[in-house]
Amino acid sequence: MTVISAPTAPRRTWKNTALGRFFSSPRSVLGAGLLTLFVLLALLAPVLTPYRPNSMEFDAFMGFSAQHPLGTTALGQDIFAQFVYGARLTLLVGFVAGLIATFLSVTFGLAAAYFGGRIDEAINTLINVFLVLPGLPLIIVAAAFIRGGGVWPVILVIGLTGWAFGARVLRSQALALRERDFIAAAVVSGEGALRIIFVEMLPNMAGLIAANFFGAALYAVLSEAALSFIGVGDVSQVTWGTMLYWAQAKGALLQGAWWWVALPGLSIALLGTSFAFLNFAVDEISNPRLAGGRLNLPSRVPAAVAAPVAGDALLSITGLDVGYAAPTGVVRAVRDVTLDVQPGELLGVAGESGCGKSTLAFAATRLLDPPGGVLGGSVRLAGRDLLALSPEELRRVRWKEFSIVFQASMNVLNPVLTIREQVYDAMQAHGVTDRDRLNTRARELFDLVGIQTSYLDAYPHQLSGGMKQRVVIAIALALEPKLIVMDEPTTALDVVVQRQILQEINAVRKRLGISIIFITHDLSLLVEMSDRVAIMYAGEVVELAPAHRLYAHPAHPYTQQLMNSFPPMTGPRTRRSGIPGRPPSLSAEIIGCPFFERCNTRMPGVCDVQPLQTFPVAENQTAACFLYDPAVPAAVKESAVKDSADRAGVVRAGAVRDSQTVLATRPRPSSPGGES
Ligand SMILES: Nc1ncnc2c1ncn2[C@@H]1O[C@H](COP(=O)(O)OP(=O)(O)O)[C@@H](O)[C@H]1O
Ligand SMILES: [Mg+2]
Repeated sequence: MTVISAPTAPRRTWKNTALGRFFSSPRSVLGAGLLTLFVLLALLAPVLTPYRPNSMEFDAFMGFSAQHPLGTTALGQDIFAQFVYGARLTLLVGFVAGLIATFLSVTFGLAAAYFGGRIDEAINTLINVFLVLPGLPLIIVAAAFIRGGGVWPVILVIGLTGWAFGARVLRSQALALRERDFIAAAVVSGEGALRIIFVEMLPNMAGLIAANFFGAALYAVLSEAALSFIGVGDVSQVTWGTMLYWAQAKGALLQGAWWWVALPGLSIALLGTSFAFLNFAVDEISNPRLAGGRLNLPSRVPAAVAAPVAGDALLSITGLDVGYAAPTGVVRAVRDVTLDVQPGELLGVAGESGCGKSTLAFAATRLLDPPGGVLGGSVRLAGRDLLALSPEELRRVRWKEFSIVFQASMNVLNPVLTIREQVYDAMQAHGVTDRDRLNTRARELFDLVGIQTSYLDAYPHQLSGGMKQRVVIAIALALEPKLIVMDEPTTALDVVVQRQILQEINAVRKRLGISIIFITHDLSLLVEMSDRVAIMYAGEVVELAPAHRLYAHPAHPYTQQLMNSFPPMTGPRTRRSGIPGRPPSLSAEIIGCPFFERCNTRMPGVCDVQPLQTFPVAENQTAACFLYDPAVPAAVKESAVKDSADRAGVVRAGAVRDSQTVLATRPRPSSPGGES
């Protein structure tokens, strides 16, 4: 660990901004250009022609002339005037109906996703009803009741019928967001529904909503044209659609006035094209999967520090920086993390939700998807640079050298295959084909994780959540990898089952000598079974210590507060409160200690201004906390600790005593594990 504000965020260049990407795609330029042209036509209509579009003062079917550049209609109207004024109403229909439909899509989609349950069911039914009803006939029926009355009823009808598709797309996007840890964190921390929807979720969906708007506008323009063409709606209004209607009704083609048909027809097609292009373009920009990743990754810097890891570490993570490209800038979810895992070791990683644990696990196992990206640092497994592996190499190494179990892993079991087939699959993919061997191995694995082998021939739905999770763990063990990364593998299960599974994992580890990184937000679980524990906060490892040491003498105030905020696994389960406050935003640069705001032993003037480092606390224990900074005067530290005790009212003897011991036996400046 080094200085916190390491300037590793990618530089913002023009091409890197949303606008830059927008203008570098031919489709979006064409779309925007066409739309601008039509908007100008509409705005400048009174300047471009002296005539009113509806005045029938001229002869019928006049040809091209200086007065009438496009001739006149069968009713003696100037076609050019109709065209430019028609652009006005046509665009109005597109924009306003698009806005209405988008507003409804967003409202329904988000409400369904956010509230879930009954509300979701009801909205989903409504969406489905609107989706199965054929669109145009529905509009025709609705519009038939509102003949006449100008263009507004048509706009309303189109807007009110055109929202369902968008609502479904937005709902599923919002559902996916809802599942994300950072939303969960917001919910847990008690933010109100409106704030979560508007501040946490909507900005993440801005691109999709914009794309949705252009899609809806396209639908509106085409629907209006179709409606007008068949004479539904108010044909006394001049839109490109009603121009088509009159041209058709008055036999324009028979009279040889083909342009009376071609001009509005072509314009509708071009306007539709421009909306469609804008829809694609915005979608592409805001959907990083399509754009192929949005992070402008710097070529990977070789780790600044010569790997400070003990020679035979199985996994060494050095100076790892990971970020997500977000609309507000880069979210630096993992900051300069250096960690190693010894062969056979169980390393626990703990910290509140949202502090970067999963991101670390994903990045270290090459499972990070866009918009996430590794910004710097290295990950070596048994000497092999994992970050440099090609997808093909990665496929060979994964499961064999390391495997991964995630919180929702049990949901990865395919419901239509038996457990046996799925356990076999993992092994067959790596070359074990002999039936007898597969069978023997599957039985062994089930014994290992404590499931009766008779369940091999069951289907996933016949198993409880705990058993499914054991199956997934068995699959992860199938090829005897050297390392298993487990990200909250038991969080979804009840406490008793969690405990059993953990004990089994631990037993398996000892028998097979594999290493495990075990991630959880429940610190009390970890201290019982880990060899060492790393505490993460705001993307950093703030404390690293052997489990027993961490339990007896937590050094970092965050660790101490975290320890107090979880019920112990044994003994009376009293209700504990979480740590008040929230972790800082990871998109901003953090000056000083990220825990400052919430720390009960903070030292203003030190902790909030100085660049933070990791300091050695005791043998094999390090903490990123100024209480252990030899350069900070003892008097300052003592008064901070004392203030905290005073504030607490009741003296929490343990914490104070520990801090004082620590202050009394100030660390040697350069004990192992505390690199710069
Ligand atoms: N796809 C994403 N886009 C933007 N930010 C993200 C994304 N995924 C995670 N984050 C951010 O990264 C941080 C770390 O998240 P995560 O690794 O899931 O934490 P943990 O596993 O500790 O709960 C969170 O603050 C979250 O806001
Ligand atoms: Mg997580």
